[in-house]
Amino acid sequence: MAISRGFVLAALLLAACGARAAPADQCAAKKAGESLELKADSTTVHWGYFSDAVEPNLIASSGDEIAVEMITHHAGDDYDKMVKGDPGVEDIYEWTKDGQNVPMRGKSGVGDGVHVLTGPIYVCDAEPGDVLQIDILDLKPRKNPSTGKTYGSNAAANWGYQFRAGFLDGQPREVITIYEATEEGDDVYVQPDYQFRFAGGPTGYMGPTTPCVEANVSLPEAFPGMEMSWDNAERVYSGKEVPCKAGEQTWEGYWYPGLITTHPTGTEDYSIRGKFKAKANIHIGNIGLAPAYDSPVDSVPPLMSGGNMDNRRVMKGNTLYLPVQVAGAYLSMGDAHLAQGDSELDGTGIETSINGRFKLTLHKKEELPKIVQNLTHPLIEQPDSFVVQGYTYADYLSELEEPMSTIYSKSQIDRAMTVAYNQTRDWMMRTFNLTEDQAISFITIACDFGITQVVDGNFGVHSIIPKEPFGYPVTTKSTGAASVPAPAPVPAAASGARGVVAGALTLLAAAAAAGALLA
Ligand SMILES: *[C@@H]1O[C@H](CO)[C@@H](O)[C@H](O)[C@H]1NC(C)=O
Ligand SMILES: *[C@@H]1O[C@H](CO)[C@@H](O)[C@H](O)[C@H]1NC(C)=O
Ligand SMILES: *[C@@H]1O[C@H](CO)[C@@H](O)[C@H](O)[C@H]1NC(C)=O
Ligand SMILES: *[C@@H]1O[C@H](CO)[C@@H](O)[C@H](O)[C@H]1NC(C)=O
Repeated sequence: MAISRGFVLAALLLAACGARAAPADQCAAKKAGESLELKADSTTVHWGYFSDAVEPNLIASSGDEIAVEMITHHAGDDYDKMVKGDPGVEDIYEWTKDGQNVPMRGKSGVGDGVHVLTGPIYVCDAEPGDVLQIDILDLKPRKNPSTGKTYGSNAAANWGYQFRAGFLDGQPREVITIYEATEEGDDVYVQPDYQFRFAGGPTGYMGPTTPCVEANVSLPEAFPGMEMSWDNAERVYSGKEVPCKAGEQTWEGYWYPGLITTHPTGTEDYSIRGKFKAKANIHIGNIGLAPAYDSPVDSVPPLMSGGNMDNRRVMKGNTLYLPVQVAGAYLSMGDAHLAQGDSELDGTGIETSINGRFKLTLHKKEELPKIVQNLTHPLIEQPDSFVVQGYTYADYLSELEEPMSTIYSKSQIDRAMTVAYNQTRDWMMRTFNLTEDQAISFITIACDFGITQVVDGNFGVHSIIPKEPFGYPVTTKSTGAASVPAPAPVPAAASGARGVVAGALTLLAAAAAAGALLA
């Protein structure tokens, strides 16, 4: 109840005291089907949290195509390669004795949210119960304008699974690997450049140092009496105190987003160069809508409305469907990756900056396509399959007491598997008119379940449901938007000329069935 009250009040506050015209007024003046752009700098990002009390940085409507720049929160791991010479990134990373251009980092100023998120993007007419369809038209690695190159950082950090499993020599350590992205024709590859220890080790390197900054800012108030202020006098992050000595702080752990490491640290190790070269699978780690919640929400644990899913299938050519929870939807995105395998084992992907292009389509709750009716989780559509995204808690914000402080200790793959199975069963029964027993058998013979991530507090398990068995059209990979039926398989009994005709008829039937499903 407090949730919906918070949302109404936040909307009233926005309407009453926004410096710009209220979003609804801007929507009234807006043309449909526009091409819009949201560049990233310190004024268009929020760092570490989702909230519908953040003033929107873009007003979009259904049918618009939007270009959005996403900047990695790991660029400080090699400032020269990932920040310097790129004005938007330099602006976001500005951190001097006099202040930080984006001073509020982390949900509450204690470092618990980490992602640089571009947005929010207000979607005109969006209301709770609607579904936002996001077609991912393009994701391009961002080239540093001064070097023409793209680098990324893989941080094997303290929240990685190796810290649970144990190290061979019993010595826990945080190690950063810098990768370079290279293009070969249309393909992008990633190659390791070098590694360094974040802190500690035989050289005695103590970790990055940053100036102490007496920031004193507060988040936009989402709910009266719930002011989230940020003043870092105590300098306590992730439960560890980082004292200010001679105007500087030294960070012995990867506890705070946006730390800038000065190289050389004495721990650089180039022996990884040339050991392997992998194909990139460029995707967005964190893309979501503001949840219905009465305070800003940590950007790390993934949400019913998306967020930090870290599912590598949120990639070019695919489509993401997210349930809208607040008026205007409030879409934000960041945490782009050059590559990541399922599990995101060591804590991060290859974190990089990416420029994306998307098409937005708003489905109103009165006329939802069948595949997104009663949607209570993110759904990804690939050319040949659907992906149901489950977590340990489908909606941890409403299921747990004190959710943001308890979710990290409740992460479980077992429970995430149960939730993903339940959601897959329910989605299949609704979408394909199956009984529970029919769904159970189909899931068993044809669906792959995978461990999405074991590092984001709310662990993820997803299922992959092939389209073809239900005559659902297989789409082309180029835009992800078109529903072009692929040649249907020729029934085993048919062959030769009759087979071709039978195939064509199957194709028509599949298209008709698909039309019925989409309606
Ligand atoms: C922070 O700013 C607020 C209002 O701008 C002020 O009332 C408060 O005293 C400041 N706190 C510190 C520690 O400077
Ligand atoms: C899974 O679904 C069953 C049947 O509705 C239900 O009893 C169970 O509580 C669900 N489990 C979870 C974790 O949601
Ligand atoms: C969605 O939920 C509503 C009410 O909760 C129900 O009437 C409707 O049948 C559901 N739709 C599907 C496709 O299950
Ligand atoms: C769903 O399947 C049942 C048979 O299992 C059938 O009687 C019913 O008409 C189907 N409903 C729709 C909407 O196709």
